Amino acid sequence: MKEIRFDGRVAIVTGAGQGIGRMYALELARRGAKVVVNDLGASRDGAGADTSAADKVVDEIVAAGGGAVANYDSVATMAGGENIVKTAVDTYGKVDILINNAGILRDKSFMKMTEEEWDLVIGVHLKGGFCVTQPAVKVMKENNYGRVIFTASTSGLYGNFGQTNYGAAKMGLVGIMNTLKLEVAKFDIKINTIAPTAWSRMTSDLFPPEFEQKMNPQFNEPMVLYLCSEENTACGNIYAMGAGWYGRTAIVSGDGVCLGDAQRKISVEEIRDNFDKISDMENKREHGSGLGIFEYMGPLLS
Ligand code: NAI
Repeated sequence: MKEIRFDGRVAIVTGAGQGIGRMYALELARRGAKVVVNDLGASRDGAGADTSAADKVVDEIVAAGGGAVANYDSVATMAGGENIVKTAVDTYGKVDILINNAGILRDKSFMKMTEEEWDLVIGVHLKGGFCVTQPAVKVMKENNYGRVIFTASTSGLYGNFGQTNYGAAKMGLVGIMNTLKLEVAKFDIKINTIAPTAWSRMTSDLFPPEFEQKMNPQFNEPMVLYLCSEENTACGNIYAMGAGWYGRTAIVSGDGVCLGDAQRKISVEEIRDNFDKISDMENKREHGSGLGIFEYMGPLLS
């Protein structure tokens, strides 16, 4: 069996000072990549900063014979994102892999959520996805090669009490992927989104104690490294995972129903009378872009 290697590749992992991101950084380096270990060293709610988080992971990689450099910028500003990418280019000459992983939580039920709690979470996850990915993809386009991962969450895909800010940010990343994959389609840049589940400081008070071993963050790493490898050709997909389970999640549309003739007014009663057909998902389909929805309207538009 041919081993998947990353020799000659340069990877950026944001929020790699601990938790799931640390696992990516260690294994990428073990398999030959040079790694930029980005971490602001923030607390779970995003407060504070501590350079030792990134430093420790770099020390671990270097002690094991790998190559890594630390970066302490916040992903939440364009200046930070540009400097993270600059660290990779200045130290190793390019960027081949970007794993957008940094994250914080400010959980609160929607009706109690403050503007600050909203902005902070959107800033790190959603804006952070923009701020690091834009300068990284600029370099990837020049080299006609790139692998980008966005980190979403089942909280965004399906919902989770107290996480409207987090869920919105995470689904926003799916929105970035859906369009960015079209904009870079002519380059060998593959962009995918993952929804991990793991025991970390983010989840340790949510899961029962026996999950600490079973939900080890390590289980997310092989899937993400595969998606970041040269062998991977998948692009624009969402993969959920945890504890050794891996599966694809997708946004799909049902066949729906064409009413009228694109001329006459459709009544509310017609919607009511066809609501079961409109809601039916038996022939669900995915679409490569928003244009896919025109397939359904075909009979009305021709
Ligand atoms: P973690 O809290 O252990 O690690 C997140 C890291 O991001 C921390 O080291 C923190 O210092 C860093 N960070 C925070 N704000 C930053 C900023 N502005 N700039 C740079 N670094 C920053 O969390 P965990 O569990 O490892 O999560 C990793 C990613 O996976 C996050 O995006 C999280 O939302 C996502 N996720 C995790 C799940 C889980 O079950 N643990 C579930 C779903 C998604």
